Amino acid sequence: MNTNTIPAFGLGTFRLKDQVVIDSVKTGLELGYRLVDTAQIYGNEAEVGQAIAESGVPRDDIFITTKIWTANYAEDKLVPSLKDSLQKLRTDHVDLTLIHWPSPNNAVPVAEFMGALMQAKAQGLTRRIGISNFNIALMKEAIEAVGAEHIATNQIELSPFLQNRKVVDFAKSQGIHITSYMTLAYGKALKDPVIEAMASARNATPAQVVLAWAMQLGYAVIPSSTKRENLASNLLAQQLQLSDADMAQIARMDRGERLTSPEGLAPAWD
Ligand SMILES: NC(=O)c1ccc[n+]([C@@H]2O[C@H](COP(=O)([O-])OP(=O)(O)OC[C@H]3O[C@@H](n4cnc5c(N)ncnc54)[C@H](OP(=O)(O)O)[C@@H]3O)[C@@H](O)[C@H]2O)c1
Repeated sequence: MNTNTIPAFGLGTFRLKDQVVIDSVKTGLELGYRLVDTAQIYGNEAEVGQAIAESGVPRDDIFITTKIWTANYAEDKLVPSLKDSLQKLRTDHVDLTLIHWPSPNNAVPVAEFMGALMQAKAQGLTRRIGISNFNIALMKEAIEAVGAEHIATNQIELSPFLQNRKVVDFAKSQGIHITSYMTLAYGKALKDPVIEAMASARNATPAQVVLAWAMQLGYAVIPSSTKRENLASNLLAQQLQLSDADMAQIARMDRGERLTSPEGLAPAWD
């Protein structure tokens, strides 16, 4: 069995705090979501842990992803910081731990934090390890450090407006799974007339169309929502099958439009 596989569908929690994140995660789990994506910098790991604990869903049925923040990349900091995250999440392991962004100014070498992630895995603190917001050059460094077979995913911004084909093609060539974040372009893609027309022709929602498109290309998706109705309907995207013509039409919507590129963190994008 390839232990590096990751579920195709999950729940994002970026920007969600306090009771809002507790409600979103609890509702999601109640509706059938089984993957929750958080991060040290989101400041909501404790609330995510609380929601999971109170949900009644067995821990082993849930896939938890967290991301290490840039301040914790040094070899002596990464594992202790992950242990703090585990305590907040009320679990003895997570299913996937990602390096959230490349190390600013290369302060910590890729080999050092990838090595530290491998130690975390060897200690049973995380079942899988991966990267996020890595360009091709950084992916190559990470592969050199630990081998592509140990990198479960590169989580990157990917939506109909930013299809990121160079990174996708390289990751694919290495057998590294792509996770699309902000698949809905933070809601923007849902107002696109082409997507809207496709959705109404299929009795689907625009969000279902966009999520189905990404999953049909083989990417994992982690849409977030604060609304029960959206959480429920997004989940049903897994049942939507788009035609080749639909897929081709969305492929043409790529305009390289990136929404997330924080100064001081973002690498030179491909
Ligand atoms: N690795 C990274 O650096 C990184 C960066 C960004 C995000 N992420 C991860 O990716 C996840 C997803 O990204 P995101 O949350 O920024 O953006 P997103 O999932 O593209 O969009 C979320 C937005 O879409 C709205 N929405 C969701 N479903 C909808 C529906 N069916 N109809 C209408 N509106 C809908 C939500 O509003 P409502 O609440 O009103 O439904 C929310 O405003 C994050 O939560 C986070 O876990 C990772």
